[in-house]
Amino acid sequence: MPDNWTVDGAAQPDGHQHGSGSSGTPVDIRRVGINPDYWYPVATSRKVRKGKTLAAAFAGERIALYRGESGTVHALEDRCAHRQVPLSMGVVEGDTLRCCYHAWQYRGNGRLSQIPYLSKETERPPKGVRAYPVREAHGLVFVFPGDPEKAATVAFPALRELDPARHRTMMFSRLVRCHYSFMHENLLDMNHQFLHRGILGMIHPELLERRRTARSVEARYLFTHSGRKRNRGAGLLAAEGIGGKNSADLMTIRTEYPYQTLELVPENAELPSFSLWVAYVPKDAEQRTNQAFGLLTIAKPSIPGALQLAWPVIRRFTERVFAQDRMAVEAEQRAWEEQGEDWNREIFPLILEVRELLCANGVPLRPAVRRTGAPAPCALAVPEAEVRPDGPAVP
Ligand code: FES
Ligand SMILES: [Fe+2]
Repeated sequence: MPDNWTVDGAAQPDGHQHGSGSSGTPVDIRRVGINPDYWYPVATSRKVRKGKTLAAAFAGERIALYRGESGTVHALEDRCAHRQVPLSMGVVEGDTLRCCYHAWQYRGNGRLSQIPYLSKETERPPKGVRAYPVREAHGLVFVFPGDPEKAATVAFPALRELDPARHRTMMFSRLVRCHYSFMHENLLDMNHQFLHRGILGMIHPELLERRRTARSVEARYLFTHSGRKRNRGAGLLAAEGIGGKNSADLMTIRTEYPYQTLELVPENAELPSFSLWVAYVPKDAEQRTNQAFGLLTIAKPSIPGALQLAWPVIRRFTERVFAQDRMAVEAEQRAWEEQGEDWNREIFPLILEVRELLCANGVPLRPAVRRTGAPAPCALAVPEAEVRPDGPAVP
């Protein structure tokens, strides 16, 4: 997307909020594709077992992951060059992947290493399939779906180095049926605490400041708890121990394209009691579904073993909060589907800024892949009556 393609959040004559490109064309943020020139998690490491494959996806591109005998994870385009059968249905042999159908064999770099029945006279076969740069870190498998030339220079997501003796990390991977922009808006806009009133009680968030760069939007909130006692899971997360107390916390939320982070520092503390890193990875070509991968790092309290005991309570608490957020963002997506465009009347400057950021750093959505492609060239003539108007020849 050109640099000057921005969303200013201004209401258009039709009353809806659009941005506009240099051509004056309105930009609907829900039609902005995520920029593929970044490292994106597509699976948890645990799910990619040695000698096994796993079908993953990034924005409609199907990716076959497999872990070879050496323990290295490889990521190939999930289609055999021969007849397009998914390679994720294949068999891992050493560090190669063999297609389940006619046994064409691929190396981790996507090159064909063997076609078992190929005779010398046979015409030169295709070279192979696309291989994605792949890296494993923080318990996640990351691929670089964009220009592979950029993979070496684009920064790999850096998580704050934490002492494992003093911290523990909880991992999340959840499918959410909405455009990734709804997720960024949801986490940054803390004015939605009413949604969580049943779990969190009364919270007053006050936006202290916001900062904007070309690649990031950051907000600092002061959270004041009032009314009834705070949820036990929330108290444990704030490292207050069981029982909780009514204190104010400083929360910093940041979208640093394309990731998002959140840190909570309790009043009078120097270090965060917990921090969250999240990536929202579109799955389908239209980017109306995303897989949210999250790493929640929690500081261990001074009492030995206390965090281990509290772990199930914290997990349940975070799952319940996340379920409420998911309900809201999926409802927003359904409204967008019904209305066919973005009818939002957003008024919070911070959210207008993050919309602008996501548009400025995003890319145009690729046209949907044709599902009824033209039949492959065939040496045999097919009688016209046997060709469906909308699909390949039928026998
Ligand atoms: S479809 Fe893969 S080897 Fe034939
Ligand atoms: Fe929320």
